[in-house]
Amino acid sequence: MSNRINRREFVLAGAAAVGLGETGEAFSNAPAVIVPSVAPVVISDRSGVTFKNGGTQTCVEKAFELITRGEDVLDAILAGVNIVENDPEESGVGFGGTPNADGVVQLDSCCMHGPRKQAGGVAAIEGVRTPSLVAKAVMEHTDHHLLAGQGAQDFARNMGFTIEDDLNTPRTRDRWLEWKRRTDPGHYLNPAQRARHGYQVALEMLAEGRVDESHFWGTVNCDAIGPNGDICGVTSTSGLAWKIPGRTGDSPILGAGLYVAGSVGACGSTGRGEANLYNLTSFLVVENLRRGLHPKDAGLAGLRRIKENTIEGRLLKGNGDPAFNIRLFALNAKGEYAGVTMYASGETSYGVCTENGAEQARLEPLLEGSPTD
Ligand code: GLY
Repeated sequence: MSNRINRREFVLAGAAAVGLGETGEAFSNAPAVIVPSVAPVVISDRSGVTFKNGGTQTCVEKAFELITRGEDVLDAILAGVNIVENDPEESGVGFGGTPNADGVVQLDSCCMHGPRKQAGGVAAIEGVRTPSLVAKAVMEHTDHHLLAGQGAQDFARNMGFTIEDDLNTPRTRDRWLEWKRRTDPGHYLNPAQRARHGYQVALEMLAEGRVDESHFWGTVNCDAIGPNGDICGVTSTSGLAWKIPGRTGDSPILGAGLYVAGSVGACGSTGRGEANLYNLTSFLVVENLRRGLHPKDAGLAGLRRIKENTIEGRLLKGNGDPAFNIRLFALNAKGEYAGVTMYASGETSYGVCTENGAEQARLEPLLEGSPTD
């Protein structure tokens, strides 16, 4: 990781800056260092520490390098997320994301800039590999926070983004064909039959290992704090595998799949988006951070809220616990961070990059076992 500056160097650089006047003379009463300083941290779900799109860096490594070079924190983490979005091997995000029930890859994303208190998002956008950059364009070039569907694509085209006919790869198309073969092509079922058709068959394919859980609701979330305390976050996804066309999950919705409060912290999520839409879990976790909870406790409290509010039989295991997984990644203004997961099985780690380099850290589970046992 070249061009890296550590926290102490940043403090000294800050001290030098505040000790000189405009003409270069030293202040007679130069204050003690006033530049807020925190050790930069980048966190992500596991995709952010795994995929490189044929390059040398993962999402968290790229973001960390750019942050320590002085780039805007949001631009830095977007550059990291773009690696995941562009990687055809990551079948839950961007190019090569898992398509909806009609075989069309529809993507969701949002971003939040903590210090600027700005945000943007796109939902169910087709044909753009990097929806996170369209989300940023919504943030910067419109008066709005969320554009959806055809309007989002038209906006992207007008902003100069390349629109492609199809973001499937052979792998994602094969899996979709298999799903299509097994299900009734109609998604609009009698409520009494809902538990057995599309969703249930998809869960069977999950249990058979035909698609892994991290790609079923595949998502990249990346959150970071820069050396001057700037906190930003990005979430990007192709959403639930084989979803009803137009289904929008938590990832583009502020407070659901991502929330950033500039002076407090950030939280993002992967997993069953409906649970975050119902509970606005990312907002809840950030409010818990505001109350002083450590990111781990704030995240576990978010998972407990989801568990409490999950009472529909079709969403429960035999023992009454949720029949789905969900993960939350949180960091606070002190640079403390954590990743938590509803279940101990499945994905067990998340990405972290600090001045010590990138690593996979252990997700803290709320419940033992798995959503399907
Ligand atoms: N968390 C991703 C989704 O449910 O769409």
